[in-house]
Amino acid sequence: MPGSAFSTNWKTNNLIYMSQSITFIVQPGGRLRGEIRVPGDKSMSHRSIMLGSLAEGVTHVKGFLNAEDAMSTLEAFRAMGVSIEGPVDGEVTIHGVGKHGLKAPDKPLYLGNSGTSMRLLSGLLAGQSFDTILTGDKSLESRPMRRVTEPLALMGAEIVSQENGTAPLHIKGKTGLKGIHYDMPIASAQVKSCLLLAGMYAEGETSVTEPAPTRDHTERMLNGFGYPVSREGDTARINSQGKLTATRIDVPSDISSAAFFLVGASIAPDSDITLKHVGINPTRTGVIDILQLMGANIEILNRREVGGEPVADLRVRASPLHGIDIPEHLVPLAIDEFPVLFVAAACATGRTVLTGARELRVKESDRIQVMADGLQILGVDAQPTEDGMVVNGGRGIGGGEVDSHGDHRIAMSFSIAGLRASAAITIRDCANVNTSFPEFRQLATRLGLDLTTV
Ligand code: S3P
Repeated sequence: MPGSAFSTNWKTNNLIYMSQSITFIVQPGGRLRGEIRVPGDKSMSHRSIMLGSLAEGVTHVKGFLNAEDAMSTLEAFRAMGVSIEGPVDGEVTIHGVGKHGLKAPDKPLYLGNSGTSMRLLSGLLAGQSFDTILTGDKSLESRPMRRVTEPLALMGAEIVSQENGTAPLHIKGKTGLKGIHYDMPIASAQVKSCLLLAGMYAEGETSVTEPAPTRDHTERMLNGFGYPVSREGDTARINSQGKLTATRIDVPSDISSAAFFLVGASIAPDSDITLKHVGINPTRTGVIDILQLMGANIEILNRREVGGEPVADLRVRASPLHGIDIPEHLVPLAIDEFPVLFVAAACATGRTVLTGARELRVKESDRIQVMADGLQILGVDAQPTEDGMVVNGGRGIGGGEVDSHGDHRIAMSFSIAGLRASAAITIRDCANVNTSFPEFRQLATRLGLDLTTV
C-alpha cells in the first residue's frame, strides 16, 4: 500500500532494528550546490571497534559512523563483555579488554545487513576459546561465506555453516590455530582482513597475497595500534607476537558515501559542491579516477594525513561526461561505487563498458541485475553481462518506479538519477539506507535534491 509504513521491531543484543517500508520519491532536475561533510567511513568504523576492543587501554574514536552496520559490530563487542560508550556526535570510547579478554556472548550475535561484520568477526572469533554463532538478515544470510570459512579451516578453525556455505555460522571455540599462506582467489579486503585477524591468534606466520590491491584499512589501523603487520609487494604478513595498545582514531568521511554527490554534482548542470574531510586512501579512490576518465571536474584540495589515513576536501563542478571502457584494475578500488557509476554512465555520451566486476553480483543485492533492471525501467539502454554492464548513455533518463531490493547503495543511486530525469522517480524499499548513510536524505536535500519519503 503506497504511503503506509509498517514496522516490526525485534531486539537482538541491545540493538533494535526497525524493519520499515520506506519509499523515496525524487522530483526531476535541479542542481547541487554547497559544502557538506558526509558521515564517517564504514570500513574504518568497524575496524576501530574491533581493534579498540582487543587493545589494552582506552581508545577514543572521533567521526564514528552511527549507522546500522557499524552499530552491529559495536553491539557484538558489547555482547562479548566490552564496555563501550557512545556513539555521541560520532565519539566512541572503548575500554579495551586486551587480545584475550573477550567473553562468550550469551546469545547469537545478530549482525543485521553487515557483510564486513560477519567476515571480519569470523576470523577474529575463530581463535577464541569460546563458541559463537553469527546470524544476520535475509540478505546477509544468503551471501557467500565459504570465501572465509575455507581458508580459516586450513588454519584449523572449526566453523559450521549452512549446507550452501552461508550463515548462520557456528564458530567453535578453538585455541591453537596455525598460520598459513593464502593466495586469495578474489580481490577481497574482507577475506584478507579476516585472515589477518585470525593470524593474531595463530602459531607462526599468516600471510595473504591479493590478486589486486584492496582496501588496506586493517593493516594501517593494526599498525596504528602498534601491532606489526608487514607488507611486501602484494603480500601482507602477521603473527601472534604483537599487542594492541589503545590509541586515538579520527575516522574521515566515507568516500563511498561521498560518491553519490561526486556523481550528482558531475551530472547536474550548474552544480558546484565541496565535500569536506573525505578519506582518499589510494585503495578507495577508484571512483575519482573513473569519473575523471569520463570527463568529471573533481579537484582534490587541502590534502593532509589524519591518523595514518590520507584525507582531502573534494570540489566537484558539473561537467559533460563521456562513456569509457572502465580499466579493470580500478574495479576493486571502486567496488562499492558501481551502482552510482552506472548512473553516471547513463548520463555520459556514448558507451560505457564495465568488465571484471562479477563480485557485484554477491553484494547486498545482485548489483548488476538490480541496477540494469531499474535503469531499463527509466528508459536507459543498460545491458547486464556476466561480470559487468554495457550502458549506452546520453539519451536521457525517464521517470518511473524502481526497486532498491533493500540495498542502500541502489536506493541512493536512483535518487541521484533524479537530477537528470525527465519525470519523478519512485524508489521502493529504501529503509536500508540506514545501514550506511542515515543522513543521506537530509544532506542531499540541503545540497538541492528534491527528495521526499513516504
Ligand atoms: C569492505 C570490503 C569490500 C566492500 C565492503 C566493505 C571492508 O568488500 O565491498 O563494503 O570493509 O573490508 P570485499 O572485500 O568483499 O570486496
